[in-house]
Amino acid sequence: MDNNKSKLRSQEWFGRFDTLGFIYRSWLKNQGHPDHVFDGRPVIGICNTWSELTPCNGHFRVLAEFVRRGVYEAGGLPLEFPVMSLGEVLMRPTTMLFRNLASMEVEEVIRANPLDGVVLLTGCDKTTPSCLMGAASVDLPTIVVNGGPMLNGKYRGRDIGSGTDVWRLSDDLRVGAITMEDYLEAESCMSRSDGHCMTMGTASTMACMVEALGLTLPGAAAIPASDSRRRKLAHLSGRRIVEMVKEDLRLSQILTRPAFENAIKINAAVGGSTNFVLHLLAIAGRLGIDLALDDFDQLGSHMPLLVNLMPSGEFLMEDFFYAGGLPVVIRELQDHLHNDAITVNGQSTGENCAKAPNYNQSVIASIEQPFQVEAGLTVLRGNLCEKGAIIKPSAATPALLKHRGRAVVFSDYEDYEARIDLPDLDVDPDCVLVLQNVGPKGYPGMPEVGNFHLPKKLLAQGVTDMVRISDARMSGTAFGTVVLHAAPEAAVGGTLALVRDGDMIELDVPGRCLHLDVTEAELAQRRAMWQPRPPHSERGYVNLFLNHVQQADTGVDFDFLVGKSGAGVAHGNH
Ligand code: FES
Repeated sequence: MDNNKSKLRSQEWFGRFDTLGFIYRSWLKNQGHPDHVFDGRPVIGICNTWSELTPCNGHFRVLAEFVRRGVYEAGGLPLEFPVMSLGEVLMRPTTMLFRNLASMEVEEVIRANPLDGVVLLTGCDKTTPSCLMGAASVDLPTIVVNGGPMLNGKYRGRDIGSGTDVWRLSDDLRVGAITMEDYLEAESCMSRSDGHCMTMGTASTMACMVEALGLTLPGAAAIPASDSRRRKLAHLSGRRIVEMVKEDLRLSQILTRPAFENAIKINAAVGGSTNFVLHLLAIAGRLGIDLALDDFDQLGSHMPLLVNLMPSGEFLMEDFFYAGGLPVVIRELQDHLHNDAITVNGQSTGENCAKAPNYNQSVIASIEQPFQVEAGLTVLRGNLCEKGAIIKPSAATPALLKHRGRAVVFSDYEDYEARIDLPDLDVDPDCVLVLQNVGPKGYPGMPEVGNFHLPKKLLAQGVTDMVRISDARMSGTAFGTVVLHAAPEAAVGGTLALVRDGDMIELDVPGRCLHLDVTEAELAQRRAMWQPRPPHSERGYVNLFLNHVQQADTGVDFDFLVGKSGAGVAHGNH
């Protein structure tokens, strides 16, 4: 330890005996820290995304206390700090508008302070990628403690899942299949404990992603938030980060190209959210890992679906935990993975999961008998999305994966809301619904509206799915034959902006093609007439976002945030 003391970053603050050293120690002592905690022990930042405005992370002050126990026990000094918390359900217009902003805060707070290692407390969807992106650009030893999913929703004798059943219940209400009383009762039944959405939505997908990348202790993703083993995990993670600092096991040593490839394959096998693509691309971009949109198709699309969770299946995260959780999936996939990828506990992925028992094959299938043979995301190309678009076939209607239909176009979300339920809307079940100007710059922020509702009059006829195309995202809890992330987006003049009512569109998922059946000459004419819309804002953060956000095919990060700057700071604080 003595040899390491001089190497610890925090000693640049606490290891000096001059005016600044006095200031650094003295002010911290007002929190009751005794002299000996500045003796060269690892200083661990607990990066907390707790907020009452982010109910999924509402239990994080308690969780932080357990991390703190572990850090002290291992001989470190824990210092907790708050960062911007992105609450999925309350923030307008969409948390995705703020993911990069939050990542900037995480990066700068970590770098600016006397920290040797970091524990990221993450839960609700964007809190995981924002923290990871920021931490990756600093590259200290880092471990993730995710907050865990809520217990299964329980409604009148059956399980209901966050998000997924909201969409179902809302459609039922719209067509009169249930009463408002039924609907309101379901609200309380769905969200009945601490934790994030318990479907395989984006939060659970992100929890699986960080475990698959090797950034959590094994088995972390599925432990329910209110299970005491979640607090034990926090405690053990606190212990482990102190050791990681002593080993100088930094984020970039874990987040290698093989780790990213593992994450893509594992995401396919768990039926993870489409948002995974954007966030993984952005994290890779911070580390200089060469990852492209097509990698998700090439590496993931032929992976089998092994996890039977909503929205692709029928169970929920609590069931996944009792069945054995992600280590079982990793063991089943071992012939496809880089099993030697190192993880935060110093062991490899293969070593961590080699003996993981499967307690319920209705929830986690074996690789020999998967729930679906091919389950990953498919990347589409064509004149309607020159830089790509994605679809999640496992959440789509098989009969619609190859489809040709007449376009019904909505120029933006307001136009959609105003017209979708009009009785005289010229639409039939074979039409292709197109929603424009809901991409990164168009909305702005790329909201989760890609799974927009079908016309009421078709729902009433019993239609449950139609092909929908947009430059938006989709909630990880949603489902349907929904083409997302079309790039370039309509707001920057992508071909999506040129589609008109009555155009024929061909979707061919097996052929990986999305084609607008309009002649090149006609498209050129429409392109010449296309005018960009005025910017949403001339000032402030939204203006910064509009000027620097990149397209979906590279992860929607800001151009100036790609890459990392390390942990060094040129000057002391003055
Ligand atoms: Fe927070 Fe779903 S709303 S995870």
